[in-house]
Amino acid sequence: MSIDFDTIVNLAKKRGFVFQSSEIYGGLRSAYDYGPLGVELLRNVKEQWWHSMVRMREDVVGIDSAIIQAPSVWEASGHLASFTDPLVECTNCNNRFRQDKLETLDQCPSCGKRDTFTEAKNFNLMFKTHMGPVESPDNAVYLRPETAQGIFINFENVRRTSRMRLPFGIAQIGKSFRNEITPGQFVFRTREFEQMEMEFFCRPEEADEWFNYWIDERKRWYVDLGMKEENVRFREHDADELSHYSAGTFDVDYRFPWGFDELEGIANRTDFDLKAHMERSGKDLTYFDQESGERFVPYVIEPAAGATRTTFAFLLDAYDEEEVRGDTRTVLRLDKRLAPLKVAVLPLSKKPELVEVTTALAADLRPLWPIEHDITQAIGRRYRRQDEIGTPYCITVDFDTLEDHAVTVRDRDTMAQDRVAMDQVATYLRERLG
Ligand code: GAP
Repeated sequence: MSIDFDTIVNLAKKRGFVFQSSEIYGGLRSAYDYGPLGVELLRNVKEQWWHSMVRMREDVVGIDSAIIQAPSVWEASGHLASFTDPLVECTNCNNRFRQDKLETLDQCPSCGKRDTFTEAKNFNLMFKTHMGPVESPDNAVYLRPETAQGIFINFENVRRTSRMRLPFGIAQIGKSFRNEITPGQFVFRTREFEQMEMEFFCRPEEADEWFNYWIDERKRWYVDLGMKEENVRFREHDADELSHYSAGTFDVDYRFPWGFDELEGIANRTDFDLKAHMERSGKDLTYFDQESGERFVPYVIEPAAGATRTTFAFLLDAYDEEEVRGDTRTVLRLDKRLAPLKVAVLPLSKKPELVEVTTALAADLRPLWPIEHDITQAIGRRYRRQDEIGTPYCITVDFDTLEDHAVTVRDRDTMAQDRVAMDQVATYLRERLG
């Protein structure tokens, strides 16, 4: 089903997936906090990416580099000179806009005045701060706008210590910061966000082959995790869209409520970054191929995804509504690996003899999966809440349980119910949840 933007934003807020940052102070625009369910979903998305990109591969290792790096990193990478957006300012209302996002330069969309725009000025998107107690230009540092550079500057450290041979990749997940001029669409474009990036180093003549390989791999990842194929598409960048480092980029786009928009960019970064860091640092970042006796600068294929943006896309994609006996049931059909909670343990009523059983069952299951033990409200409302947050299984303890030592396990998607012996519950769930 196609879902409207406000519905999912409201659900995310109502159920504790995402809150506006600094809400009690009126909210800080373009920054968000992940609530108890959101943090689990986001962690699961990152965990699945790490599992597929690092743990399951012989040719990729991970790192976790610092957010604040030497300013020379950003000089060498080109971000200080080129990571800019063209800004125009209305001389009447002083609002600023990205020139390339305006439909016309003749009239200000904010105050409506004509011919009030200044000449465009390039605005650097990096957040600048100062290291140490003195605020001087010599102490200026930047919050990283991408995790990728932390990988390039550690290329030689990782190669040497991990004894990796080409082709191999270095992966990293972490926060990035961009002073976006037009943040918006909930967590889609924010000024603080998380990325999942992998730099795959290879021989220059093999770069095209690896580029195609990673395009296929990345598509497989989204679809394997349940994203509907018709909602994902690949789009090749036109020459004038390419970043300053790229010889070719494919975007993985998702069908958001406002249309297809970017989830991930897969770029052929050539030898741009390693060469730039060699020149600026004076360090040798070439690779010596022992078999052929050649020394060269590797090319890089980079699948670069947004963790927070992808989490939002999975949330949208999973949203479903269906008619059940004249009622509308809202259900998040998240893949079980992504679901924030895997199991809800529910006594049919608050009667102490039932709660005693569910308390013990919840304690048994808690070390195995993220669970919720919920004893409030009528059972129908509790099922509805669990459907709405995507919990794959609900276990209900009723009065028969006290006699037959069995419980009812309800499946989120089919609503089918199985009666399972209490001592078999963990095995039953393990077969289905893994
Ligand atoms: N290292 C390459 C790089 O950073 P990018 O296309 O600028 O490439 C990669 O960013 C991904 O990071 C994007 O596809 C998007 O998912 C995510 N991303 C970028 N800017 C973002 C923002 N302001 N808010 C949320 N996610 C963002």
